[in-house]
Amino acid sequence: MKILAFESTCDETAAAIVEDGRKILTDQISSQAELHAVYGGVVPEIASRCHVESISILAEKAVRDAGISKEDIDAVAVSYAPGLIGAVLVGVNFAKSTALALNVPLIPVHHIKGHIAANYLAYPELEPPFLCLAISGGNTLLVDVRDYTDMKIIGATRDDAAGECFDKTARVLGLPYPGGKPIDMLAQNGDDRKYSFPIAHVDGNPYDMSFSGLKTSVINLVHNAEQKGEEIDRASLAASFTRAVSESLVPRTMQAAKELGYKKVVVAGGVAANSRIRADFKAACEKNGYELFIPPLKLCGDNGAMIGAQAYYEYLAGARAGSDLNAYATMEL
Ligand code: KG4
Repeated sequence: MKILAFESTCDETAAAIVEDGRKILTDQISSQAELHAVYGGVVPEIASRCHVESISILAEKAVRDAGISKEDIDAVAVSYAPGLIGAVLVGVNFAKSTALALNVPLIPVHHIKGHIAANYLAYPELEPPFLCLAISGGNTLLVDVRDYTDMKIIGATRDDAAGECFDKTARVLGLPYPGGKPIDMLAQNGDDRKYSFPIAHVDGNPYDMSFSGLKTSVINLVHNAEQKGEEIDRASLAASFTRAVSESLVPRTMQAAKELGYKKVVVAGGVAANSRIRADFKAACEKNGYELFIPPLKLCGDNGAMIGAQAYYEYLAGARAGSDLNAYATMEL
């Protein structure tokens, strides 16, 4: 079954064709990051306009690149939540009209479920159940993936997402948006023990997380140093900050896997591209005897293929949308 899938929830417009949820026939992505970089973050109105400009071009390109004709498409899928509402609407409306024009079913896909499904593309042998840590620009969730479509959040950030924390830290260091990759590169030559940052433990749920204190701590350190005219070791700050994020994520995930009795640990989302976090997960999973699944870098960030992968399983579970499908800024998993 060939699914034409669209993604437009933030600043990447994407159109992909995925076969039977596991095989990428094409994955076309147009990133707007450079346009938003001058503002230090995503400007929603600019994002929506860019999606409008590129989505039809990407759809045509996807069909051409996959070497198929439009008649070969069995279904259309779209990421309909959560995200920037104006941006999501572009994908939803385009997907609705495409499904109508091709006379094929329309499948709604939750963006975070898509991130998790990126792993099905990278690991043909991976099947639920497993524990997944989804870490992106807008979400940080520990998810009990009981089945392809049946998931339960067991922990979440109480405030900022991990990716947001990377982006804010990058901004205070004068690094470009999005800040995750520049911080990752800067941290390579730093001493991760030079600066001490807080690792939050929140009351109530041991799997909930918090990153706002860490963010504030970095900002205060940089501003205090500026006021005193002191030089900051930026590489070591990036490395120490990343260690703090990793130590918020990895031990909690290991503890949750132990408590739920899972031997498979999956990591997903843009922050899963971080080299330190990847290495720490690898070491922790080896130590605990867990099998680790993390997508290759190109499938960590937003893409259309992950939506096409999840859409296949949503289709099998009976999910269909009509022409009344709406876009949502927030949505339960
Ligand atoms: O999953 P994603 O592309 O978009 C959302 O669905 O939110 O994630 C984007 C986030 C940004 O905050 C970006 O700075 C972060 O992923 N990111 C990274 C790295 N590459 C991207 N964070 C840490 N290290 C990286 N190498």
